[in-house]
Amino acid sequence: MTVAPFNPFAPGFTENPYPEYARLRAEAPVHEHPLGFWIVSAYAEVNALLRAGLSVENRHLAPHPARDAIREAVGDRDLRGGGLSMLDRDAPDHTRLRRLVTKVFTPRAVAALEPDVTGIVDAALDRLAAAGGGGDLVDELAFPLPFTVINRMLGMPPGEADRVRDLTGLLVRSLEPLPDPEHAIRVYAADQELSAMVAEVIEHKRANPADDLLTALIRAEEDGDVLSDDELVSQVVLLYVAGHETTVNLISNGVVALLRHPDQLAALRADPALIGNAVEELLRYDSPVQLSRRITTAPFAVGGTEIPAGTFVLANLAGANTDELFWGPDAADLRLDRENARHHVSFGAGPHHCLGAALARLEGRVAIGRLVERFPDLALAGDVTWNGRINLRGAAKVPVSV
Ligand code: HEM
Repeated sequence: MTVAPFNPFAPGFTENPYPEYARLRAEAPVHEHPLGFWIVSAYAEVNALLRAGLSVENRHLAPHPARDAIREAVGDRDLRGGGLSMLDRDAPDHTRLRRLVTKVFTPRAVAALEPDVTGIVDAALDRLAAAGGGGDLVDELAFPLPFTVINRMLGMPPGEADRVRDLTGLLVRSLEPLPDPEHAIRVYAADQELSAMVAEVIEHKRANPADDLLTALIRAEEDGDVLSDDELVSQVVLLYVAGHETTVNLISNGVVALLRHPDQLAALRADPALIGNAVEELLRYDSPVQLSRRITTAPFAVGGTEIPAGTFVLANLAGANTDELFWGPDAADLRLDRENARHHVSFGAGPHHCLGAALARLEGRVAIGRLVERFPDLALAGDVTWNGRINLRGAAKVPVSV
């Protein structure tokens, strides 16, 4: 059977990519794309791929005409902070960088944020209530919560917020598949600007230590962990981008899913203790990060197919999260009491498993839990608009009445 190539540019894909993922699982769970990359879309295979310890370093990519054309247009400018963040490094560098950030990003440090998170959520809900009984859920809650939290943790000056929002919005394009050269160059410029801003904040923090994550990270560096200045900047930029561009989607997509399933929303209202499992099921049902990537350094056998060395492979997290073979015939349904919801791969798996999962879960739980509790008449007040992204796919406008 000839399989039609995966086409994320088909009309309607970013509004609802799930039929395309179902087709891929049925026709080619391990699929070779004519543009030179592969995409793996079934649960067992995605897990195997992520846990196999494959590379994330682009230098292992074999030459390919489609990729090389982009490279040529972009020149030697690296699109992701010189590839210095832990997300782009293999062991032993990955292990060293991740250990350093894990040292300050402890479960205790995250749990201590709960009062702060609750305060930010309640202020956002007050705004929604005051604004004539509604507004845009993304502008009022889904964006400001994770953005304010990561800003406070890292200590970025509040005056820069709008510019940082623009820059991180550009930077996440480096996580999109198939970037075109024109975008690639804008992403590069955004990365340079944000890195320069972060470097300035780090210098200021060195002279004026405070009780925040950034100061702790600088101290860990100064305590003898070998870390260059550029590496420190890259980890902070990564935390910035990963710290809010993802969680925004958890909250906005999660609320959209609930509002489209009134029976499930009613079940959550009847039993607020369901919120922990509800957040897991919402993460599974509509993954805030749809894809992650690996690079083979040797032929890699998965699902009975051999992927050659030097290949760019997309792990289809959202495809895995909706695979009937693993989840059963109701895989496409939202069921907040699903027993194994936590087995989703929305935070990845293996060595690069999301470092911020505990923080994302806390923010999701408090934001969605308190929103639902406070507004018994919460409803959609217009059409949902999607952000047009393939990977960090999310609802960009969610008009609600409260
Ligand atoms: C890695 C998803 C929130 C920090 C990852 C990965 C995924 C992911 C899928 C793995 C990428 C890979 O396999 O290559 C998410 C989702 C979030 C979220 C869905 C929200 C719902 C956060 C937050 C932070 C964060 C709030 C920090 C403040 C990181 C970091 C990594 C990472 C540092 C890199 C880990 C490594 O390479 O070892 N995340 N993330 N994430 N995430 Fe998250």
